[in-house]
Amino acid sequence: MSTHLTPSDRTFMRHFAIMIAMLGCTAVVFIIVGTLVWSSLPKDNNQLEVQQAGARITPVAAVYAGDTGRAAMAAAKAASDKAAASQVAYGGTTDGKVIFDKLCTTCHSTGAAGAPKITDKSAWAPRIKEGLATLVKHAVDGYTGPDGNHMPAKGGNPALTDAQVEATVKWMVGQAQ
Ligand code: HEC
Repeated sequence: MSTHLTPSDRTFMRHFAIMIAMLGCTAVVFIIVGTLVWSSLPKDNNQLEVQQAGARITPVAAVYAGDTGRAAMAAAKAASDKAAASQVAYGGTTDGKVIFDKLCTTCHSTGAAGAPKITDKSAWAPRIKEGLATLVKHAVDGYTGPDGNHMPAKGGNPALTDAQVEATVKWMVGQAQ
């Protein structure tokens, strides 16, 4: 192989060398510009933001599969039933006796806090004369009598509906008559 280069070979070699040098310079410029841009961008390493983003894109309902899935679904249902029950007092019953036995009895069977006992007909007679609407209103809103004894609103359980309280008052009046 001859090392002799023709003039056109030399020209080619010179142009080729210049081109390689220019490409090298361009590469260096790109690396510098890239590094500058990257370092000026905000970093995505905030743990809280990453967690919040994860929470935002989590599907609303999870998919349960297999036996572990069934167990998870049962646990989820039990938890939601429990949460719902705490919003509805005594399963939503309008059986006055049931509600009385679970709540009102603490004062109205014993006379605690100066409450008129359910068995004390003479204590109830003047109250019953006030009319059922007044008794229900006092039981729903709460009431402090002339002797300073206090009937708490809904017997102290705000989860009771007005209808539940009314049913209980009706049952109590029925017992005290
Ligand atoms: C913490 C004790 C307490 C509980 C629990 C309680 N009460 Fe009373 N209640 C009282 C007292 C005390 C009075 C008497 C207030 C007064 O007139 O001096 C009273 C009075 C009443 C009266 C008569 C109101 C009037 O106008 O004379 C009704 C009706 C009544 N309660 C219904 C209920 C019902 C229904 C419940 C259960 C949901 C209940 N109470 C639970 C303490 C209680």
